[in-house]
Amino acid sequence: MITGKPFLTEETISKRVRELARKVSEEYKGRDLVVVGLLKGAFMFFSDFVRQIQIPITIDFIIASSYVMTNTTGKVEIHADLREPLRGRHVLLVEDIVDTGVTLNSIRGSVLNRAPDTLKICTLLDKRERREVNVPLDYVGFTVPNFFLVGYGLDFNGHYRNLPYISVFKKSH
Ligand code: IMP
Ligand code: MG
Repeated sequence: MITGKPFLTEETISKRVRELARKVSEEYKGRDLVVVGLLKGAFMFFSDFVRQIQIPITIDFIIASSYVMTNTTGKVEIHADLREPLRGRHVLLVEDIVDTGVTLNSIRGSVLNRAPDTLKICTLLDKRERREVNVPLDYVGFTVPNFFLVGYGLDFNGHYRNLPYISVFKKSH
């Protein structure tokens, strides 16, 4: 079940998303930027975020998974890969939440193999205290405590992704 009060409201999220997009628009002005969304989790953040970016960009997606129930399995599977060539281009990976860092670290390696000019990472949420693998995060929306969060793209067993805000999920006994 989810707790009554949102952990992050729609207003709080959208204000921060606009700030992140403004920074990215300034930093990548005049450069060939490919914004890559990690699905499914980042779908809602990605769509709000790219809408606020004020420079021309290209978008692409990777569908990967590493999670079973509320524990990471440590194994990352890529179900659908990028179609855009990355060589010599500037790439910004967009993730919903970084927990142990295993998923992002693995995807980062795979993207770096394609020789982009630069690679940066933007995550809406950073569950920093759970980190096991150190991944460089360039843009972070919110640093969050070790709660299991759902909504705004984040799921528990496939549910709650469509909530427009983020809530804490509690297992009912
Ligand atoms: P990591 O590999 O442990 O960093 O896990 C990252 C992935 O696990 C994220 O992209 C999410 O899909 C999922 N995940 C981690 N924490 C949460 C959470 O609190 N709620 C929902 N999904 C989560
Ligand atoms: Mg994810």
